[in-house]
Amino acid sequence: MDWETRITRLLQIQYPILQGGLAYLGDATLAAAVSEAGGLGQITAMGLPDAASLRREIRLVRRLTSHPFGVNIALGMPQADVAERLRIVIEEKVPVVSLSGGDPSPWMAQLHSLHVVTLVLVSSRRQALKAEQSGASAVVAVGHEGGGHVGRDGVGTMVLVPAIVDAVHIPVIAAGGIADGRGWMAAQALGAEGVMMGTRWIATQECTQASPSYQTALLHSTEADTVVLKASLGSPGRALSNVFSRSVADREKKTPGDPAIRNLLRSRINKRWIHEGIEEEGFGWAGQAVGLIDRVLPAAELIRRMVQEAEEIRQMWGACNSTR
Ligand SMILES: Cc1cc2nc3c(=O)[nH]c(=O)nc-3n(C[C@H](O)[C@H](O)[C@H](O)COP(=O)(O)O)c2cc1C
Repeated sequence: MDWETRITRLLQIQYPILQGGLAYLGDATLAAAVSEAGGLGQITAMGLPDAASLRREIRLVRRLTSHPFGVNIALGMPQADVAERLRIVIEEKVPVVSLSGGDPSPWMAQLHSLHVVTLVLVSSRRQALKAEQSGASAVVAVGHEGGGHVGRDGVGTMVLVPAIVDAVHIPVIAAGGIADGRGWMAAQALGAEGVMMGTRWIATQECTQASPSYQTALLHSTEADTVVLKASLGSPGRALSNVFSRSVADREKKTPGDPAIRNLLRSRINKRWIHEGIEEEGFGWAGQAVGLIDRVLPAAELIRRMVQEAEEIRQMWGACNSTR
């Protein structure tokens, strides 16, 4: 079957299935596995201590796959750090950059002039229009079901994606709540030309940074087992529900806007669970799609299954049309 969309052409990939940034988890091993299987893997700059390690990871991906890949940069980092990471990306001729959590416009002209494909993560129609005006190659519409940082407006993928598709001319990638071929086809029915998943990739064999305890919790959680933290501080993020994250949520309910809450969600505490496996002392970001994950798979097998499910859905739709 033909999976070509403007996104596959733009990114030069076989399937319009992307791996989103995954702080402290999205390394070269995972990115290369996704790209090698025909999707687009991305190294996450957020999890790397410095620019030199980003350069090492980029070179490692190139040793593991000859397919295109990307680097995700969270714009919440200090400007100098963003500039340094982008300098490495440009020097290493990385074909795709995704930018999240801030205003991408200061960086777009340079990336555009060097023909770097830019994907900008947005959670509202207004942000999508702004990203398009600033020269983004495509936008990623991230609905509120998603794992990690989500939009302040609380709009889910089902409404956000078509609203943004109607507003912009550039291609739209859907994210938030997608974990299988059904989610992918639903997103395409809404007008998206590709999907970006976050949570689903954590339960893959190549996500070697994730502790077994975190991966196991993903398999056992239902769609109701997530909690949004830090909304009262203006930067909501969706985490897996555990004793630690619920205690932070309770505290936030009692003292909304308390800056001390941010300290409870520092990267060191995040890593306590997701790397070291000590669940009682840490938290892990995850989206509502946890309810759809029941096994750890090789990344290539996950993509193979998604393609098979999508094929079945298309055949079913074709059969519906022919009986009309
Ligand atoms: C553990 C975790 C870490 C994340 N870290 C980042 C990040 O560093 N940068 C980023 O742009 N998005 C990050 N995200 C968001 C994902 O890239 C993606 O947009 C989101 O997970 C999509 O929703 P889903 O989890 O329902 O698939 C993270 C998500 C998770 C679950």
